[in-house]
Amino acid sequence: MSKVFVKTYGCQMNVYDSARMTESLAQHGYEETGRPDEADMVVLNTCHIREKAAEKVYSEIGRLRRLKERRAAAGQPMVIAVAGCVAQAEGAEMIRRAPAIDVVVGPQAYHRLGALAARARRSGDRLVDTEFPAEDKFAALAAVPAPTRRRPPAAFLTVQEGCDKFCTFCVVPYTRGAEYSRPVAAVEEEARRLVAAGVREITLLGQNVNAYHGEGPDGRAWSLGRLLFRLARIDGLDRLRYTTSHPRNVDDELIAAHRDLDALMPYLHLPAQSGSDRILAAMNRRHTARDYLDTVAALRRARPDLALSGDFIVGFPGETSADFALTLALAREASYAQAYSFKYSPRPGTPAADLADQVAGDVKSERLHELQALLDAGQEAFNDATVGRRLPVLIDRPGRRDGQLAGRTPYLQAVHVDAPRTLLGEIVDIEITRSGANSLAGRIATAETVALAAGAAGVAAP
Ligand code: SAH
Ligand code: SF4
Ligand code: F3S
Repeated sequence: MSKVFVKTYGCQMNVYDSARMTESLAQHGYEETGRPDEADMVVLNTCHIREKAAEKVYSEIGRLRRLKERRAAAGQPMVIAVAGCVAQAEGAEMIRRAPAIDVVVGPQAYHRLGALAARARRSGDRLVDTEFPAEDKFAALAAVPAPTRRRPPAAFLTVQEGCDKFCTFCVVPYTRGAEYSRPVAAVEEEARRLVAAGVREITLLGQNVNAYHGEGPDGRAWSLGRLLFRLARIDGLDRLRYTTSHPRNVDDELIAAHRDLDALMPYLHLPAQSGSDRILAAMNRRHTARDYLDTVAALRRARPDLALSGDFIVGFPGETSADFALTLALAREASYAQAYSFKYSPRPGTPAADLADQVAGDVKSERLHELQALLDAGQEAFNDATVGRRLPVLIDRPGRRDGQLAGRTPYLQAVHVDAPRTLLGEIVDIEITRSGANSLAGRIATAETVALAAGAAGVAAP
C-alpha cells in the first residue's frame, strides 16, 4: 500500500471533495496517513477565495519541497499534487512558480488524480488537468465503492456545484465552473448509503445550494425545497442542513420546508455581503437590502426560532462610510446568531479587482473591527439566551478532555458536556448551563439518558 496525506483548505465543499478523493485514491492502492513525512503522495486541496488563502499554499509547498528532497535522497519518491480552486485558477502557472509540484488537478477533474499520479511517477512529467464539467466527475465517483467502515454521525453531501451568479468580487464561477445539480436519485442514494453507515445528520452542500435544480424522478427539475422534503423521508436521517444559500434563490418551497420539516434544522447561512443598495448593485448581487430583510422575515414567519448566519465583505471598491453604516444597520436589523465578515480582497480576473476606487487597507481594518464587534455581541446574546434551555444535541465528537464529549444544537452551536463515550452518535437532551463566545457547556438533562449512559458505561467497564 502507498500512503497519501491530504491537507484541506477553504470551504466545506473542499472537505467533501477531499473525502471523495481519498476514497477514489484507495482504488489506486493509497491509504490515508496523517503524517506528510511518510507519504508517497501529498495532496493540497486549495482555496482561492481571498489572497491570504491562496498564498498559504505556496508556503506549504516550500516546506514540502524540503521533505520531498529528503525522501528522494533516501530513495523514496514523493508526488506533490495540488487540487482545488487555486489549481483551477492558476493551472500550469503553479508549476512554473513552484517546480516541486508534480500534478495540478482542478475541482472537476480530481477523480483522475490516481491515474495522473501514476503517470507522473512513471514518467517524471509534470501534469495538469483542469477540465470541466462536473457531470463526468460525479459519474466516475459513483462507481467508487463506498467504504464499509462506520462514519461519524454528521456528514456533508454535495448536491450542487459551480455558480452562474458572477458577483463581481468572487472567483468561484471561474474556479468551479457553471452551475450543475446532481439528479435527485443520485443524491438520495448517497444519503441512504451515509445513513446505513451510521450518519444521522447530513448537510447538503453547494456553492449556491438553493439554486439546486436537479432532475427529479418525474424528469422535471426539482428545487432544493422539494429535495429536502424527499430526503426527510429517509428513516434514521434525523437532521438536515444546507449551505451556502443565495438570497435570490430562497423560494416558497424552501420556506415551506423550514415550516413543515422537523428534520430541517432551524439554522440558515444566508450571506448579505453589504447593507448598501449601491454596493450590492456594484457587487452584482441582484437584490437590495430590503429584499434580503424581507426574505429573512418570511423565513422567520415559517420558522420563528430560525438562527441566522451570514457573510459580509467590508471595503468593497467605492464603499463610503455611509455605505458601511448601512451594513451595520442591516446586521443589527437581521439579528444574526453568528456571522462571518471579511476584508475585500481583490482577486485576479474578477471585475471588481479592476475598479479604480479601492478602499485603503487601514479603513478596511477599522470597518472590519467595528462590524465584527457588532456580530460578536449578537452571537454572545444569542448564545446567552439558550442558557437554562433544554436542547437536543447531536453528540458528534470527543471533547477537549477525557470524559467530555462535544456536539451541536439545532442552531449549530457547539456544546461541551461530560458524558461517557457510549453517547457518541446519539441525540441527547442537554440542559445548557453556561455560554461562551464560541461554545456552550451543558449537562445531560433527562433521567432516562442518565440511566442509559450509566448502564452502558457499566457494561463497557465491568
Ligand atoms: N456562494 C456563497 C459564498 C462563497 S465564498 C455566496 O454566494 O454567498 C464565501 C464568502 O467569502 C462570501 O460569502 C464572501 O463574503 C467572501 N468572499 C468571496 N470573495 C471575496 C473577496 N474577493 N474578498 C473578500 N471576501 C470574499
Ligand atoms: Fe461567489 Fe456566491 Fe456570488 Fe456565486 S453567488 S459568485 S459563489 S459569492
Ligand atoms: Fe475556496 Fe473554492 Fe471553496 S475558492 S471557498 S475552496 S469553492
